Amino acid sequence: MNSLPIGVFDSGIGGLTVVNAIQKHLPNEDLVYVGDTARVPYGSRSPGTVIDYATQIATYLEDTGVKEILIACNTASAVALEVVAAQTSLPVSGVIVPGAEAAVELNESGPIGVIATRATITSGAYQNAIQQIQPCTEVISVATPLLVPLIEEDCMDEPFTLEVLQHYVRPSRLSECDSLILGCTHYPLLAEQISRVFGKPVADTPTATALALAKNLDQRNARNEPAREGSLSILLTDDADRSLGIVSRRLGVSITETKTIDLSELIAPEIRSSDLSSA
Ligand code: DGL
Repeated sequence: MNSLPIGVFDSGIGGLTVVNAIQKHLPNEDLVYVGDTARVPYGSRSPGTVIDYATQIATYLEDTGVKEILIACNTASAVALEVVAAQTSLPVSGVIVPGAEAAVELNESGPIGVIATRATITSGAYQNAIQQIQPCTEVISVATPLLVPLIEEDCMDEPFTLEVLQHYVRPSRLSECDSLILGCTHYPLLAEQISRVFGKPVADTPTATALALAKNLDQRNARNEPAREGSLSILLTDDADRSLGIVSRRLGVSITETKTIDLSELIAPEIRSSDLSSA
């Protein structure tokens, strides 16, 4: 038994889709969630920058005293998981492998589709994870950067959101896929609309991630006391009341406390050359 909280982090608010699944499947666990709202989005940044941000947050969580770190952000899981895992003595997991496993389970014999941020697609992380499980599976990957702003602006039910989805599905080979991975924390909030346009099963990455986390805790006999009701502390690097309100209301997540934190002492001041070349 281990009564320390689980540290969960994301580039912003979208990781609450994963928190929501954890609250359902691990209701006794205390969660400390860091949303890097000062530096979101990660999906358009270089791998080096995302690695810097992710390692800073993992250091912060480790110093806070957590028993495990879950990277709920797809982009950070795709490019920074190995570095984060190497820098800490805590168990670290991400969303890519559970998402890939869920999609392979749903799939028949056709290709698997992945929609995600540009950084996640460019990393090839989902393709690698799927092909590790099932080597001959074709993976069709499409970057869909317009979806996060639509979700954060609460436009999920607007007709133009369906048009944006069609804009991504039509010219791609996504319609040939048997199943689809929603490779971004926000996309489960749009799962119904995506299923409607895509017409194929969508892998439930948040649930698969929560179940994998439960398995990790069981293997280490590290669950919280069963009589406890888990809490959720949300720590944001900048105010994000509007998007936090939209996402938490949609998901029905119950938040115990919210506060703003300062990671500036952990932030290296130098400007990376990769940032300058992509500016
Ligand atoms: N949380 C990010 C992800 O899952 C999406 C938002 C961003 O670009 O930072 O990839």
